[in-house]
Amino acid sequence: MTEYTVPAFKTFIDDLRTQFAKDLPETEHWEGVRGILKTLCADEQMREKSKDWPAKRGVELQLHHDSDHGFFVGGLIRQPNHRANVHDHAHTWTIYGVLDGEERTHVYKRLDDGSEDGKATLELLAQGDAPTGHVDIVPPWVPHSEWGMGERSVAITVRSQRPGGYAQNRFNLKTGETDNNHRGLELIPTPV
Ligand SMILES: [Fe+2]
Repeated sequence: MTEYTVPAFKTFIDDLRTQFAKDLPETEHWEGVRGILKTLCADEQMREKSKDWPAKRGVELQLHHDSDHGFFVGGLIRQPNHRANVHDHAHTWTIYGVLDGEERTHVYKRLDDGSEDGKATLELLAQGDAPTGHVDIVPPWVPHSEWGMGERSVAITVRSQRPGGYAQNRFNLKTGETDNNHRGLELIPTPV
């Protein structure tokens, strides 16, 4: 196994592996992962570590990819006021926790039936503050967007699989256009 220098991150990975090995029903499983990520996002040493990470657009840091259970842990660093495009994560699950700074989350509902190629009608379903320590569950196919609020922010993702190998949908709210050419961000392996 990989050695991690931040004790809370080692505990986090151990706890995730235990959780994945339980093979719980879907909802219970991801609620458990949310709790485990909440504990990590409360750790000061982890927060300090993340301050070294560069804020670069289009990049996700690869912090862990689990060889036994397939799950992926990433780090997303948002430049001040960065607004992500509206997108989904295809068939995968993501647990998304704010480790540092403050974000705002927007969740959309797709109103059309997908029968018109390249077109989608979205409705804003919910939006909410995501301060340091806030953890959200992003189920499959749910369009959403995260905004950085003012300062640089850092989020930790736990994904059901490593991004890159599957297409994700992107949505243009202004034009109503959608495409599935997006294959996730560039992954940069980063030791913790
Ligand atoms: Fe996302």
